[in-house]
Amino acid sequence: MTDIKKITDKLKNEQNASDEELLWLLDFDGDTEYLRSSADEVRKKVYGDEVYIRGLIEISNHCKNNCLYCGIRASNPNVTRYRLTKEDILACCKSGYELGFRTFVMQGGEDGYYSDEVMCDIVACIKALYPDCAVTLSLGERSRESYSALKKAGADRYLLRHETADDVHYSKLHPENLTLESRKKCLFDLKETGYQVGSGFMVGSPFQTNETLVKDFRFLQYLSPDMIGIGPFISHKDTPFKNEKNGSLSLTVKLISILRLMFPHALIPATTALASLDSKGREMGLKAGANVVMPNLSPESVRDSYSLYDNKAHSGSEAAESLALLKELVKKAGYRVVTDVGNVKR
Ligand code: 5AD
Repeated sequence: MTDIKKITDKLKNEQNASDEELLWLLDFDGDTEYLRSSADEVRKKVYGDEVYIRGLIEISNHCKNNCLYCGIRASNPNVTRYRLTKEDILACCKSGYELGFRTFVMQGGEDGYYSDEVMCDIVACIKALYPDCAVTLSLGERSRESYSALKKAGADRYLLRHETADDVHYSKLHPENLTLESRKKCLFDLKETGYQVGSGFMVGSPFQTNETLVKDFRFLQYLSPDMIGIGPFISHKDTPFKNEKNGSLSLTVKLISILRLMFPHALIPATTALASLDSKGREMGLKAGANVVMPNLSPESVRDSYSLYDNKAHSGSEAAESLALLKELVKKAGYRVVTDVGNVKR
């Protein structure tokens, strides 16, 4: 038996492999079809052909941080900054609800405007209007008390990527005031507060190695998140990483398959970054083990401004109002978008 088969089978049967085996798999640049089809088999066993959708509302592109990779970093003067009001956000939820969305993800930069008071009010309003919906937040690092207050207000889930589980690598992607230690603390605070937690990392970020990727797997095993979001790093012209090369489609897809085998029950999105990198990205992600898509529900007027990386997709099947297109794409790939399930667990 070849190594690719042996290691894939081991991942499938034991949801684990040694560091050496994982490194071998990451290094391997031959045919990975067996890995992909095994991951798809596991996804079908656990989730059938269902693809879950989440409506993404990008509530603010103000951010106090200066992450070296991110287009909305504080020191980028070329961003038209915006923030959505409660009314704007409720309007997004209304149109999303009518389209069949039952999860609203509010994502934004770390923007002091959204204090606990402001955010709790928004969350509580959404839950009062749409008690059958899940509210997911993706607002970066906050205090344990803040996470707890938002949870009490009705938030169900929180997405916070760890970005890389290697300290030195983390320090090369972020300014000095941001540390992996505090990122990890936030993630464990979120878990302990009772959130369903999503984490993840960029694929092919500058200075990433196969060794740091193995650390990412190990950290995820330790954290055991409900969702794992990964997408290729894509350079942004106004960042220190403007000349760095983008992450690769094939590595991202390979990592989705490895993650599906290691975490059979995880929600794994085919991310916007993956779809932005390549027109086949979304479909390839789904076929490799991904089972979630997160179309954009933000008001059209601000979509251009939430530019984390260059050429971010926000039209066609990326746009919530074109749900029909997305459903078609998903169907062609051999799966089925489920809407209106009224089950917040999904
Ligand atoms: N390329 C790809 N993904 C990026 N993100 C931020 N900037 C980029 C970029 N240049 C991702 C980060 C963050 C998520 C919201 O977007 O992983 O956690």
